[in-house]
Amino acid sequence: MSVPTHGVVYAPFPRALASARLSCRTRRVALASAWFAALAVSLAAPLPALAKTPLPKPALDASAVAAPDSYSADTAQQIFAAGGNAVDAAVAMAFTLAVTRPDAGNLGGGGFMTLLVDGKPYFLDYRERAPQQATRDMYLDDKGNVVPGMSTVGHRAVAVPGSVDGMWQAQRRFGRLKWKQVLAPAIHYASDGFQVDPRLQQRRDAAAKNFAGKTNFDAYFANLKAGTTLRQPELAQTLGRIASDGGREFYEGRTAGMIATQMYGHGLITSQDLSQYKAVWREPLAADWHGYRVITAPPPSSSGIGLVQMLKMRTDLQPAFDGLALNSAPYVHLIAQISDRVFADRQRYIGDPDAVPVPAAKLTDDAYLAQRAAEVKADEAPGTAAVKPGLDTSAQTEKAQTTHFSVVDKWGNAVSNTYTLNGDFGSGVVVDGAGFLLNDAMDDFVIKPSGAGAAGTAPAPGTADAELNTIAPGRRPISSMTPTLLLKDGKIALAIGTPGGSRILTTIFQVMTNLYDFDMPPPDALAAMRFHHQLLPQKTIYFEPYHPVPDELAAQLKALGYTVEQQPFNGDVQMIRVNGTTPEPASDPRGAGVARLIR
Ligand code: DON
Repeated sequence: MSVPTHGVVYAPFPRALASARLSCRTRRVALASAWFAALAVSLAAPLPALAKTPLPKPALDASAVAAPDSYSADTAQQIFAAGGNAVDAAVAMAFTLAVTRPDAGNLGGGGFMTLLVDGKPYFLDYRERAPQQATRDMYLDDKGNVVPGMSTVGHRAVAVPGSVDGMWQAQRRFGRLKWKQVLAPAIHYASDGFQVDPRLQQRRDAAAKNFAGKTNFDAYFANLKAGTTLRQPELAQTLGRIASDGGREFYEGRTAGMIATQMYGHGLITSQDLSQYKAVWREPLAADWHGYRVITAPPPSSSGIGLVQMLKMRTDLQPAFDGLALNSAPYVHLIAQISDRVFADRQRYIGDPDAVPVPAAKLTDDAYLAQRAAEVKADEAPGTAAVKPGLDTSAQTEKAQTTHFSVVDKWGNAVSNTYTLNGDFGSGVVVDGAGFLLNDAMDDFVIKPSGAGAAGTAPAPGTADAELNTIAPGRRPISSMTPTLLLKDGKIALAIGTPGGSRILTTIFQVMTNLYDFDMPPPDALAAMRFHHQLLPQKTIYFEPYHPVPDELAAQLKALGYTVEQQPFNGDVQMIRVNGTTPEPASDPRGAGVARLIR
């Protein structure tokens, strides 16, 4: 089957059609042309027929998108052309990226969405959850040692996916278009295919080595080759079922059955885990900074709290920063000390708020942060301060794949969305017959609480806090994803986010500082050098290939006592600044992103 038929008018975007015309067989071209004719009819329909509420007057000159690939940007454009709002566009983009970015976009993963709709901020947590049969020591052997790869590759690494319910809830609550319309572009790309980018193939090749002989990854993705058209007919059918039956189909319908069958005898997720899964609307984390209202991710994200902490401590320390050049050695040293404090708190206090108490208000309190900032000393040697260390989170710096997009509509609504399979292509397990990958989000739990290994040993001093993030049935693993909005006088001023594991926080912080402390235009704020430091490994500053550390800076940092290291990846920020009434979308030059104004 090449074209799903669920009584829906599937409406591909003309540019996608153009590439389909070049690459597909004649029959497909005829079908695509028929779709295009149907699109013209569907788009000609008067807007009020689609709209749930009357359209407000436009507040901005245009809608805008910053997307991690051209297909998702095209999707947003198509959705806006059909009269959709930012939430429709975001949901359609998420489904499109589940097709065109199978390494990170997903149906089988989870994430966070921060929204501004009709002037009110919202946050949707569609993070994965541990299955009911999950146990604290499920990745340890009988000697208490971690079984290598068990929490990252294969069926046991998979947590209950949240993305489809997240998209379903967001679109039902705030979308203007019909559910089927927002699925249509994704179905088109799955059915007729898309051109594979060389970077996607590189990531596939690396991941395939990891999964070889352990999962069915190659049965589905061996043909993912740069420059060729990748068609995913089973995925098209899955999307078609979700389009016609609604988002709960994934959790209670045929797709749920396929997931449970895939797991049976290999993994822990059952039909009951799926039917019980619900994304959660939470109060977003909010704070004042530089005359803006920061709206960001609350727990189980650790990094919304971390972002507010970094921004406020940086402001508290302004006298120390005065006169320092951006990214000079003393500048990096001050930021690194701020990061130490943020990551120490992350380890100690943050977990799934439905499972453990998280003192979010105290951690972002002005007086507390002023006191923490006062501990930072420009002339103190790295690593000597008694910043309480938690567990080593350095493993997170290895993860490369998650994806983010930002979108605003001309009515002033905004969505910042980050979602993930965790590692590249998640666990490498594809749901047979359904054509989508499952996450390895279980690896975001603390899989070996310190001291748990050797029988009879108590947890090491200072590390019992790992308890907050140990595996327990139904618990959500702590996350670093931080989709963020900034409001000025209640109106959207910035939508920003990035992939990058624990570097998400430090990346967003640096770009915001570049924009608002250094007054850089958005493209320059993105292109500037970035670095990363967290509490552990101590005294290590990471740099990146896009903007390698200058020799002189490396020498100065080493003289201060730091170790300087290169890391493979430092973010793929997709952001939209709104200047007055003009959106200024910008995509990270490090990735394949597309920034577009849509009138
Ligand atoms: O939720 C988290 O923090 C991780 N699963 C995110 C991983 C990630 O961002 C990988 N990125 N590039």
